[in-house]
Amino acid sequence: MSSTIAASLLAAKLSELGSEVEAADKAGSDWMHLDIMDGHFVPNLSFGPATVQALRGRTRKPLDVHLMISEPARYLSRFAEAGADRISWHIESEDRPASVLAAFKPYKKIKKGLAIKPATPLRRILGLLEKIDLALVMTVEPGFGGQKFMQEMMPKISALKALRKERGLKFLIEVDGGIDVHSAPLALDAGVDVMVAGTSIFAKANYKNAIQALRG
Ligand code: DX5
Ligand code: ZN
Repeated sequence: MSSTIAASLLAAKLSELGSEVEAADKAGSDWMHLDIMDGHFVPNLSFGPATVQALRGRTRKPLDVHLMISEPARYLSRFAEAGADRISWHIESEDRPASVLAAFKPYKKIKKGLAIKPATPLRRILGLLEKIDLALVMTVEPGFGGQKFMQEMMPKISALKALRKERGLKFLIEVDGGIDVHSAPLALDAGVDVMVAGTSIFAKANYKNAIQALRG
């Protein structure tokens, strides 16, 4: 019940993105999730900073930007200036995490997220948990909406929850990919705080009911 829902605009009607954001806002989505793809880190292309900036004017809800791009440190300021409230980058996209963390420095108010692909073991991010506000656990291969939820990622979520407690940290745990009425309870049981949902909201006629149904 207390989980945050982030509507993933990738599944929205792209020719009407502005009104889709307004509709998702009105329907009760807590955050707006924007998937940024560069055709290099993932085999697909999507939005850029100009889209983030354009949508910033259509809602007051937090813009949750998910970078699926190479060289995140190079582009981070563009998304920060465009009005992102949270920016997550992929651990697999950068060999020098310190360079990305440094890029966040001028933007004190922006929450720092760190995303992890399904095949990447949790140990890759264990040394960074003290430095982030959000851990984004992918439950599909990044790049496309509408894929099947990978239940086998749930141990990553429970392990993160346990580590957070052990170390006295406060980062949020977000799950992304294949969230619907069947998978949401599994993710909630594992301990997520935030659920990204694209298809299970935007493919429905009534977004409010769809969001309500995910909350359980
Ligand atoms: C996938 C994206 C997801 C995607 C989720 O690369 O990161 O945010 O839009 O879409 P659904 O909810 O349809 O799996
Ligand atoms: Zn995403």
